[in-house]
Amino acid sequence: MISRKFTVAVAAMLGTAVATAGLSAMSARVDSPLEKLMEKVQEDNSKILKGVRTAPNYKKSQDEIIAAAKEMIQLAKDSKPFTEPGKKEKQPQEKWEQLCDEWVKESEKFAEIVSNKETTQVDAKNAYKAVQKTCTDCHDVFRKED
Ligand code: HEC
Repeated sequence: MISRKFTVAVAAMLGTAVATAGLSAMSARVDSPLEKLMEKVQEDNSKILKGVRTAPNYKKSQDEIIAAAKEMIQLAKDSKPFTEPGKKEKQPQEKWEQLCDEWVKESEKFAEIVSNKETTQVDAKNAYKAVQKTCTDCHDVFRKED
C-alpha cells in the first residue's frame, strides 16, 4: 500500500516538473541573445537609413549616423562568437565567422566614410548599400524563415 505521504510527494514532484516544462517552453519563445542583438542592429540600421535618405536629414543627423555605425561595428564583432545559427542551419562555423568579418569590415568602411565631413548624403547612401549586402548575405544562409 503506497502511503498517502508518498503520493503527495510524487504529486508535488510532478507538479514541479510540469511547471518547469511550462517555463522552458515559455523561455523558448522569448528572444534569443542573438535576436536581442539583432534588434539593436535593426535600430542602428533604421537610424542610418533615415539619416542618409535626404540631404537635409543627412546634414542634421550626421553625428547620429556616425554613432550608429560605430555601434554596429561593435555589434558585428559581438555576433562572431555565436555558434547556434551554424548548428541550426548545419553550416560550418568558419562561414559564420567570415560573414561576421565582412560585416565588421564594411561597417568600419562606412563609419570612416560618414566620419568624413566632406562626404555627401548621396555618397553615404551608396556606401551603406555595401553594409546592407552583408546583412542579406548572412541572412540568406543563416536566417532561413522558421
Ligand atoms: C553573420 C550573420 C548576420 C549578419 C551579418 C546580420 N544578421 Fe541579422 N540575423 C542573423 C541571424 C542568424 C538571425 C536570426 C536570429 C534568431 O532568430 O535567433 C538574424 C535576425 C535578424 C533580425 C530579426 C530579429 C528578431 O527579433 O527576430 C533583424 C531585424 C536583423 N537580423 C537585422 C539585421 C541587419 C539590419 C543586419 C545588417 C546591418 C544584419 N541583421 C546582419 C544573422 C546575421
